Amino acid sequence: MITLKHLSKSFDNGQSYVVNDVSLEIARGEILVLLGSSGSGKTTTMKMINRLVEPTSGDITIDGKPILEQNPVQLRRSIGYVFQGIGLFPHMTLAQNITVVMKLMKAPRDARDARARELLDLVNLPPDQFAERYPHELSGGQRQRVGVARALATDPDYLLMDEPFGALDAITRDELQEEILRLNKELHKTIVFVTHDLFEALRLGDRIAIMHEGRVEQVGCKDDILSHPATDFVQDLFAKPAEQLRYLTDNATDTD
Ligand SMILES: Nc1ncnc2c1ncn2[C@@H]1O[C@H](COP(=O)(O)OP(=O)(O)OP(=O)(O)O)[C@@H](O)[C@H]1O
Ligand SMILES: [Mg+2]
Repeated sequence: MITLKHLSKSFDNGQSYVVNDVSLEIARGEILVLLGSSGSGKTTTMKMINRLVEPTSGDITIDGKPILEQNPVQLRRSIGYVFQGIGLFPHMTLAQNITVVMKLMKAPRDARDARARELLDLVNLPPDQFAERYPHELSGGQRQRVGVARALATDPDYLLMDEPFGALDAITRDELQEEILRLNKELHKTIVFVTHDLFEALRLGDRIAIMHEGRVEQVGCKDDILSHPATDFVQDLFAKPAEQLRYLTDNATDTD
């Protein structure tokens, strides 16, 4: 379990807070979606979980251990991270990109190659075709798959995914969302997933935390949020999708 307690971050010595008193618990095996508009503090919150950003105040524990007492490099290697924008290394093959952390950890070449092939398979990129390609030889959706494979390389229990499917067409997005649900079900990964896409949040989130101006406005399962929005902001945010969802559900019943 990941626990955030009264977590805050200021980049200007306390004049303003981009993350403001956030408390959240992410249970083993769940997908928690952080949903919020641009600048609401989602990435900063994620980066505090793997110590790419240090909190101004508050605590984070993972499986009961305070992360500030852990070695940041080891901590980072133990948590899978898909960066916003993916960030593959252009001069490395896909196999090298996927196993870059394994190499830092001095895993032998054979083990790295085998793992890269296994993971390429897992994200539906046939290894014979893809292992030796370079990132510029891929489509956007394929690159995103490699980003996910890289985050899984050391078989971490926890995955942080920061808008991994931003800027993809609807069909590719749909396929990748399906894969995330499978990873969660079959490999029991605990996932914190950032998006500003409402439908993605509703599809993937066991629970959704809605962020606005650095604060968590509400956290709950989608039924709770849709039927009992805690604030005006949440109500407005879901007004449109709720109508569309009702429309889709009504239609489904009509044609049954
Ligand atoms: N290193 C930094 N120094 C100063 N301000 C920062 C820094 N990193 C982020 N911020 C500010 O913190 C706020 C929150 O940024 P953050 O990246 O967490 O937002 P986000 O919710 O991930 O947005 P997006 O959806 O656009 O990715 C923004 O106003 C941003 O400009
Ligand atoms: Mg962000």
